[in-house]
Amino acid sequence: MRIFASLSLASFVLASLAAPAQKTAATPQAAQTPPMGWNSWNYFANKVDDKGIRAAADQLITTGMKDAGYIYVNIDDTWEGQRDANGVLHPNAKFPDMKALADYVHSKGLKIGIYSSPGPKTCGGYEGSLGHEEQDAKMYADWGIDYLKYDLCSYIGDVMEKEAPNDRAAQMRLMIDAYAKMDRALKATGRPIVYSLCQYGWDSVWEWGPSVGANLWRSTGDITPDWDRMYVILSQQEGLEKYSGPGHWNDPDMLEVGNGKMGLAENRTHFSMWAMLAAPLLAGNDLPNMTPEIKAVLTNRDVIAIDQDSLGKQGARIYSDGEVDVWIRHLSDGAMAIAVVNAGSDRYSTHPFHLNLHKLGLTGAQTGKDLWTGKTVELKDNMPLELASHDLLLVRLDSPKLLAGAPARPTGSK
Ligand code: GLA
Repeated sequence: MRIFASLSLASFVLASLAAPAQKTAATPQAAQTPPMGWNSWNYFANKVDDKGIRAAADQLITTGMKDAGYIYVNIDDTWEGQRDANGVLHPNAKFPDMKALADYVHSKGLKIGIYSSPGPKTCGGYEGSLGHEEQDAKMYADWGIDYLKYDLCSYIGDVMEKEAPNDRAAQMRLMIDAYAKMDRALKATGRPIVYSLCQYGWDSVWEWGPSVGANLWRSTGDITPDWDRMYVILSQQEGLEKYSGPGHWNDPDMLEVGNGKMGLAENRTHFSMWAMLAAPLLAGNDLPNMTPEIKAVLTNRDVIAIDQDSLGKQGARIYSDGEVDVWIRHLSDGAMAIAVVNAGSDRYSTHPFHLNLHKLGLTGAQTGKDLWTGKTVELKDNMPLELASHDLLLVRLDSPKLLAGAPARPTGSK
């Protein structure tokens, strides 16, 4: 919940926070490319139930999304019921038989994810895993769960602030311990379970996430289905590119493609930029009522190929000119993706933005593919580009002509 993100982290002395967690490698082979799938939260929130999860699994298949790579069907918060006398957590009435549900999802060739918190309660006030980590992990494995999103929530107030009042550094150590504890519990089950940390980027999680076995970690507070929030989150990813790679990804939060008031260009830009960031692609829309235009965005294979590129190198913003941002992502086999985003609400000018290829480490005219029109394009140095508000140009260069010397580096990097 956003309220937690208001805690100022800037004052924390990172150097004093040597993670006490055991060094454990991320699950071998897990999440070698950013996880792709669907999660219940962004559209359905607390209305998720067994029927909705089955419908989502069915829809991933009928829409072609599974074929495009969307494999995980993730149940977010509000599935939890009560613990019995033995401490066993039972799902609430919305989920009558979790094992049968997992079997159903698996029978479709898909994988299933679940959600919990290291605290006594989840963000939605449901039962968390505090004191029951091993028991819960084992139960997930018995059900056949393939993915866990572990959301800090009440652990902040009920554990960190109570056990270490006024000592932010100690609070952060407690947080890291809690994530390491669940990592050990998951590993002890012997079942490969993708481990997704949700703690809003606190304490530079990208620095220590891999040491607690995280395959991905949220790098910001919650996304909402509007351009402004999406763009703030996008901008906050600058500089994090060096922490991301196969098996351990920055997570700028789940997709809002098809949700809220974002227009088609905005949805295209959101999706393209998550691909440039090598972000997990977890759709969060109402699949049964998806429009053909939104389906076309979510299943654009060329854009998905950028996201899933085997090199696993997150893209970086190289420069901005007014409200236009230019990002590049280096891809396998020497290829490169270039994204030019018009973040302005109304940029029309008789002096349009000019693309500077030299700043991108390129020389001479470049031939590539526009990944939204599918057409071959030629990029020339200093060429004028007129982009509609909140739209982008996304081009893949299979054989970029590189300037001699070092590849382009983002502004401000060494
Ligand atoms: C937090 C998370 C969201 C979602 C909700 C559920 O806000 O960041 O992604 O999981 O909790 O309560």
